[in-house]
Amino acid sequence: MAILVTGGAGYIGSHTVLALLEKGEEVVVLDNLCNASSKALNRVEELTGKPVKFYQVDVRDSEQIRNVFTLHKISSVIHFAGLKSVGESVRKPLEYYDNNLYSTLILLAEMKRAGVKNLIFSSSATVYGQPEQTPLTENARIGGTTNPYGTSKLMIEQILQDCSRADPELTIIILRYFNPVGAHQSGLIGEDPNGIPANLVPYITQVAVGKLEKLSIFGNDYPTKDGTGIRDYIHVMDVAEGHIKALGAIDSHKGVSIYNLGTGIGYSVLEILSAFEKASGRSIPYIIEPRREGDIGECWSDPSLAKQKLAWQAKRNIHDMVRDAWHWQVNNPQGFND
Ligand SMILES: NC(=O)c1ccc[n+]([C@@H]2O[C@H](COP(=O)([O-])OP(=O)(O)OC[C@H]3O[C@@H](n4cnc5c(N)ncnc54)[C@H](O)[C@@H]3O)[C@@H](O)[C@H]2O)c1
Repeated sequence: MAILVTGGAGYIGSHTVLALLEKGEEVVVLDNLCNASSKALNRVEELTGKPVKFYQVDVRDSEQIRNVFTLHKISSVIHFAGLKSVGESVRKPLEYYDNNLYSTLILLAEMKRAGVKNLIFSSSATVYGQPEQTPLTENARIGGTTNPYGTSKLMIEQILQDCSRADPELTIIILRYFNPVGAHQSGLIGEDPNGIPANLVPYITQVAVGKLEKLSIFGNDYPTKDGTGIRDYIHVMDVAEGHIKALGAIDSHKGVSIYNLGTGIGYSVLEILSAFEKASGRSIPYIIEPRREGDIGECWSDPSLAKQKLAWQAKRNIHDMVRDAWHWQVNNPQGFND
């Protein structure tokens, strides 16, 4: 039996595929490569010495998805595929709703047709909207999302709850990631955003290699220790391992279960910057700009439920995160186009 990974050529997907292969799983990847390169999967094969079965298809293409379910015996699906930029989603809401919602609906319908009952879904801390308190536990209030990307994740969570209610045999694990950063320690795979990065760490690494001139920090007047925003950064390999643990525990789950994947520690933008400068030996010019609309001052997770129920816990610290992000970027200044 194989694990089907949608969006498996992307950032978190490729690191998870690597971890799955290392665990001895057979993996089938679907990706339309709209935000990824197939080279990521070649490198995963190189690192593991194992083959990855890859289909370049859009998850919204039901005929192609049906074909994959016919050709392979699938035990579980990990659904990473989707568009993920908060800012872009505000400019292109229809594209985001179409891609994220429709791909999930098609996937669920084809899983049903093929009799596949296990699903792990990539959700996000954005579903908590403007948090009322930190740290965030899984039963904190959700909703009040401030952009179509976050709303699409919220809607998908609701769709998954409804499908589970209609089919008690479905087992769904929703993982709400906080802020995945870093790269595999080999420096062979990592985050390779199209165009200008929307996230802090890839932005910093691109300034460090001279691709971008300077970092903009949005707001230094939040009620936080140094005035800049605080987030829960988590190493992408810890996120990948969270999926391995979820998969391993799926048979002991029923219905829908939700887990935060975070470290439980918040770092400010200036703390990340300083850790990065130390790891890379480069200084990063920056300017302070006004706060961005919809941004929150601070947000970090309470990850204790995942520890208790999945025996998962983040192992890598902030220094590992920035060191590995830098190692990847300095070895691949143009990402997978090098
Ligand atoms: N990276 C983060 O900060 C973060 C945080 C929380 C949640 N997530 C979620 O985790 C998942 C993976 O994120 P990522 O950072 O690896 O993003 P990514 O863009 O690197 O990976 C997504 C992959 O899905 C593919 N894809 C998109 N639409 C598709 C479609 N219709 N059919 C087939 N393939 C399609 C893209 O080509 C890409 O390879 C996403 O669902 C994202 O929303 C990411």
